[in-house]
This record gives sequence, C-alpha cells and structure tokens, in this order.
Amino acid sequence: MHFPASDLNPEQTYRLMSGIIVPRPIAWISSVNAHGVVNLAPFSCYTFVSNQPPMIGVNIGRKAGQRKDTGRNIMDNGHFVVNIADETLLDPLHESAQEHPPEVSEADLLGLPVIPGVVVATPRLAAAPISLECRLHSVTPFGNTGAEFFVGEVVMFHIREGLMQDGKIDTAILRPICRIGGPNYASLGEIITKRGIAQTAKSVMKPEAA
Ligand SMILES: Cc1cc2nc3c(=O)[nH]c(=O)nc-3n(C[C@H](O)[C@H](O)[C@H](O)COP(=O)(O)O)c2cc1C
Repeated sequence: MHFPASDLNPEQTYRLMSGIIVPRPIAWISSVNAHGVVNLAPFSCYTFVSNQPPMIGVNIGRKAGQRKDTGRNIMDNGHFVVNIADETLLDPLHESAQEHPPEVSEADLLGLPVIPGVVVATPRLAAAPISLECRLHSVTPFGNTGAEFFVGEVVMFHIREGLMQDGKIDTAILRPICRIGGPNYASLGEIITKRGIAQTAKSVMKPEAA
C-alpha cells in the first residue's frame, strides 16, 4: 500500500504515525499552574535531544485549538518534571490522560503523593522510580494543528536507590513501560546483548566550530 502524505487528514496521519513510530517511551509530566495545582499527564512523543547540557523534547498537541494544561503551565512558569513510570504505575499513568479542568489535580485525584522540586518549583511523583526536573529551553511549533515541541533542560536527576550499576540505569530492574498504538502499552521483552561497537567519544564543541 502507498499513501501520499498529502491525501491524509491529521487524524489519519496520527493513526499511522503512532503505529509506525513504536515503541515510544512515556514522559509522565507533572506541572503546576498559577494556583499551585499539580497537573499530571502522559506524553509519548518524547525523546532526548542533547547530552550536555542534558535536554529532552516532548511534542504537546492541542485540544480544540487550545493548549493542553501541561503546555500552558510550562509556558506560564518555565519548568516541569518528567517522571518515568514502571510497570506498577501503568494504571494511574493511563488514567492521568483523562481530560479534567485546570483546577483539578490528576495527582490528587489518583492518590499519587508528590515531593517538592529541589531546583525547580514543580513537584515530582513520589512513586516514580526516576524523575527529571526540567527548565524550559524552547518551544517550537510544527504543522497546522498547533502541536508544539517543548525542549527542557534537565537540571536535576532523581533516581531510586538500586536502579544504577556503573553509572548506567539497569533497565531490567527499572521495568519501564512504553506506548504502542492507541490505549496499548508494552513492557520489556527479552533483552538481547550484542557486542559493543566502539564510538568516537563525544566532545564539547567550541562555539565557532558549531
Ligand atoms: C500513553 C499516552 C501518551 C500520550 N502522548 C501524548 C503526546 O505525546 N502528546 C500529546 O499532546 N498528548 C499525548 N497524550 C494525550 C494527553 O495525555 C492528554 O491529552 C491529556 O489529557 C493532557 O492533559 P493536560 O491537559 O492535563 O495536559 C497521550 C496519552 C496517553 C495515554
């Protein structure tokens, strides 16, 4: 089958792309509004975009043309937290996608305690094995549905004791979840270890060389 992209409407394209770009990790984002209400929602159009400083990016769409609470909160106060869920948190993660008015805290509603941020004023989820405190770096709009790519600089890593070995996360212990198409998720399958392929070390570039 062949589909010229120009023949597809936004809904058809979304269905195709969310089934093609799989599996996706999930940023479970906590953010706060001007009244201190802690908002919580999952976002799977998410990746990392820089090592130094560490930066992550997440694509946040709109509801009927209006920014989602998460996007609005981040725009208003410039910080947020990416929480990483493990398999035990799948149910509340999924339920936190339910639409609620801005004055309703999904964290409260789902009985998820939060801990104040150390560097930024957004709290993180106590139950999450990993949380990344982020400061907003930039917002770049893409396409004609109002979607925006939010890039955040990670200013603090919170990692549960026992998850790290030799400076790396032990993924088998973390037991992360990912999103596939629609309301479907997957957990880690078999981990296959191949030979290491040496890579040239990363270096910090001088501004004039960029
Ligand atoms: C697993 C999962 C992943 C999602 N990923 C995204 C995403 O990447 N971008 C997006 O705009 N919405 C995504 N959504 C939908 C939002 O979570 C949903 O619109 C939510 O109501 C937004 O909440 P807010 O208005 O409190 O920010 C996802 C939903 C689920 C269940």
